[in-house]
Amino acid sequence: MPGLLTMFQRPRRLVYVFFLLFVLTWILFKSDTCNRTANTVTKFGRQSNGIFEVKTRRNLEKINLRHKLQSARTKNEIKPETKKSQYWHFVLDDGEKRHRKFGPTIPVIYAITPTYARLEQKAELTRLSQTFLHLSHFHWILVEDSENKTSLVINLLRSSGLSYTHLHAQTPPNVKLKPTDARYSKPRGVSQRNAGLSWIRDNVDPETQSGVVYFADDDNTYDLQVFDEMRVTQKVAVWPVGFTGHLKYGGPVVTHGKVTGWLTGLELHRPFAIDMAGFAINIKLFFQYPEAQFSNYKVRSGFQESNILQRLHISLNDLEPLADNCTKVLVWHTRTETPRTDAEARNRQKLLKGPYFSIEV
Ligand code: UGA
Ligand code: MN
Repeated sequence: MPGLLTMFQRPRRLVYVFFLLFVLTWILFKSDTCNRTANTVTKFGRQSNGIFEVKTRRNLEKINLRHKLQSARTKNEIKPETKKSQYWHFVLDDGEKRHRKFGPTIPVIYAITPTYARLEQKAELTRLSQTFLHLSHFHWILVEDSENKTSLVINLLRSSGLSYTHLHAQTPPNVKLKPTDARYSKPRGVSQRNAGLSWIRDNVDPETQSGVVYFADDDNTYDLQVFDEMRVTQKVAVWPVGFTGHLKYGGPVVTHGKVTGWLTGLELHRPFAIDMAGFAINIKLFFQYPEAQFSNYKVRSGFQESNILQRLHISLNDLEPLADNCTKVLVWHTRTETPRTDAEARNRQKLLKGPYFSIEV
């Protein structure tokens, strides 16, 4: 006690003490920032996915890297990445990006989802993003069919907690499905899936990062098990999809562990009579066949899936049947019914008095 008193009587010592206190507070503050950045998702009471889960010394290094990237982003130092890199940086909108580094041993699932503005879009994307949150080593490539990225999708992705890339690619007007067109008269999602594939080809190095490409349309429901199974795809893995082919489910017919035909009630003579949500492709194939992509033209309705698989030189014999030899349905083409809004017109004056028209649904 007398020592402490003497110390306060000496102003220089007091300066040292304050300096020490400042350093300690700064260290504490920094470690807390790391902690919060490390677990953006746990903050909301959910388990974090990706690599930023456990606060070990090694992970802190990764987190620091992320910090550096974040501050570089704020200073606008990082431009769209053109060279292939083990660490990917990608620009979402005006420099916004969500960066994850994936370890090279576990294959990453790159899910490409085309999406377009309509009343049920936010509900579809919310369901998808919250399913994907359960997965680690998962990267979502969400591609808007629009001239510009929309604030609805930008905000949804920013708050999703996912590792993602946000792109946009507009379907050419001559092949764009109009509300008056029959549903199957034009292909859907073509330009968007191609934009996703280009991004993968430009940003992923298949030699250092193993992975699987999955075309996950926004109007489906996904059981998490399907991702576990597809992760180890050697070439092309296949499984059934509920509510497709004008049956309760459609997909591969398997005999003695091999795909020998197709169960479908629609366009029976397709080479691969399978829905887009019923297969996953090893990422290496897209580098082996760098020209392989979808086409908006000269592909008959229902033949998009067959077309891409043929361009990747896949034969029936290459297919790896999953989901217990294709006896389990783990994906459903649920689709959300277009909501009725016809009462709006009748009640317009009343609705204008409240926030109705400015609320995002
Ligand atoms: C079926 C298949 O499930 C699709 O994968 C396939 O692309 C399509 O047939 C086809 O043959 O072209 P369907 O349910 O009829 O699909 O199509 P949608 O679900 O309406 O569209 C597929 C994806 O493209 C969805 O993710 C959707 O959001 C997107 N899309 C649709 C657009 O990006 N723009 C559009 O104008 C319409
Ligand atoms: Mn669909």
